[in-house]
Amino acid sequence: MPKALVLYASGQGASEEIARAIYGGASETGLETNLASAALAPTVADYDLVFLGSGIYGFGRFDSKVLALARQANWQGKRACVFATHGGRGKAHVEAVAAELEGRGARLCGTLSIQLPGLAAMIGKGKPSETDMVRAFAFGEKQAYDLIGRRPAKDQEKSRIKGYRK
Ligand SMILES: Cc1cc2nc3c(=O)[nH]c(=O)nc-3n(C[C@H](O)[C@H](O)[C@H](O)COP(=O)(O)O)c2cc1C
Repeated sequence: MPKALVLYASGQGASEEIARAIYGGASETGLETNLASAALAPTVADYDLVFLGSGIYGFGRFDSKVLALARQANWQGKRACVFATHGGRGKAHVEAVAAELEGRGARLCGTLSIQLPGLAAMIGKGKPSETDMVRAFAFGEKQAYDLIGRRPAKDQEKSRIKGYRK
């Protein structure tokens, strides 16, 4: 049976919230999904689909533990999705990590770049909005359905549009 991993690093908690929403969306499809902080050094080799994410720190750096785990892994035959929360200049860095994983043999399935508004976000005090959480949930759900080759049932589709349920 296929399995998914949501692997994240989050100094201030915003990316962890997004990781939890992605996990919620992916696991709701019935796909076996694990959520793990990079500090736990989960084994990427055990999974078919891996979401990797972090905040963006200090002139566009992705978390080094997430990057190190990504660089150790063999990506042949695996799907990868990259996500980040950031204060304004994160999108290009998400795309760069995605391109690197593709270069390492991963099948890149999607990216999610969430800009948190205001100065607070630039100093790590931003919080994802309800809309961000809905986007992240739907992102996780879509990638999981793509992996298992199914579409949401009609009644599920309706509840998904209504939004993310905590
Ligand atoms: C030390 C530090 C450096 C940061 N540098 C950047 C940056 O270069 N570009 C950017 O867009 N956001 C930057 N930010 C904002 C964070 O990326 C943003 O707050 C993110 O949501 C943090 O994720 P986390 O709560 O999961 O740690 C920085 C935040 C901190 C605390």
